[in-house]
Amino acid sequence: MNANNCFHPIATTFVQPTCLSLLLVGICLSATSAGLARTEPANGFHNGEVSERVKWLDTDGHLINAHDGGILFADGKYYWYGMELRPFMATNTLAGGQKTTTGVVMYSSTNLFDWKREGLILSCSTDPNSLLKGPMRFERPKIIFNDKTKKYVMWFHYVGYPGDHGQDIGTADAGVAVSDTINGRYTFLGIQRPISDKGEVKDCTLFKDDDGSGYFIYDRVVPTSDPLTGKMDKKRSLHIVKLSDDFLTCTKTYKEIENSARREAPVMIKRNGRYFLITSGMSGWAYNRSSYFQTTNLFGAYELMGDPCTGTNTATTYDSQGTHAFAVEGQKDRFIFISERHYTPCMTDSSYIFWPVVFTTPTNLHLPYLPEWDAEHWPTEK
Ligand code: DGJ
Repeated sequence: MNANNCFHPIATTFVQPTCLSLLLVGICLSATSAGLARTEPANGFHNGEVSERVKWLDTDGHLINAHDGGILFADGKYYWYGMELRPFMATNTLAGGQKTTTGVVMYSSTNLFDWKREGLILSCSTDPNSLLKGPMRFERPKIIFNDKTKKYVMWFHYVGYPGDHGQDIGTADAGVAVSDTINGRYTFLGIQRPISDKGEVKDCTLFKDDDGSGYFIYDRVVPTSDPLTGKMDKKRSLHIVKLSDDFLTCTKTYKEIENSARREAPVMIKRNGRYFLITSGMSGWAYNRSSYFQTTNLFGAYELMGDPCTGTNTATTYDSQGTHAFAVEGQKDRFIFISERHYTPCMTDSSYIFWPVVFTTPTNLHLPYLPEWDAEHWPTEK
């Protein structure tokens, strides 16, 4: 196994969707194991077939290593950020590949295909007494811009050293960091639990509404005991909480989302005044079926609409789990949904899937899986 990644060099051809690499890719034979390369549309999203994990490279030819994060458009560029993982297996040990010892990394692109590494924007600490001591997890980091303070605000699911999920403070909290610039060094402000300390924080996302208000949407886990048997259990469901004006804390304005028990990986899209919340099921790292909700009011009621995926491998969301969605700049009504094909034997081999979001009616959307596509040839909205 190569020290820098888990792929065996002979079996791996990296895909860097720029013209030069398209030429190289065009002459590569597709392999049957992980890390395939095939011809792809110029400037296309190369997701690969369900059985494939296509590796995308940055403009320096290195693996893009920004996991379960998001994409934000600012100052004429797209900024893609996520947790920088290690080429190890996901385990509950210090060497767990789903943990980081470096931090949250960011890339930038003007065309969604050529990604330049900007560097680490929030780093782990070597101070043994720091909350950011690695290995740890900045899981599912999301960034929104505050129009009042002019700061970029990041929230994430914080799992402190040694980075294993738990129920105690420091293992299931929301972490917050801020920066004056989108690609600057973010200053970590600390951890908190919205609503009450009883409610653990797990999967999460951020949403900024048209009026500039911000919201934290997360899987809230509350220990419960059966009144008859006294048996302890955990109640899990998605909650939406309004953020303070500076986006740094949560207010007491919140709502539990109907029918969202044991849903994870929340992703929010707003279109024509309607909110669409896409979620995954809950099965650890195993793939499962997604479902989505829609509403005209952020605080509900949320209507459960069913599986957004179409085609064949919908039971596993085409072997992936949702991460984020963003609007294509300058193309009204066009959103790209990002998911991740997690590969737990070696987490840096988890690949990225970019899907076009197709709205079939004002209240219905679907996600057609496309092994290869480009934003110039958007699937027809029905
Ligand atoms: C499923 C979640 O969506 C992931 O973010 C991760 O927390 C895994 N469970 C297990 O760690």
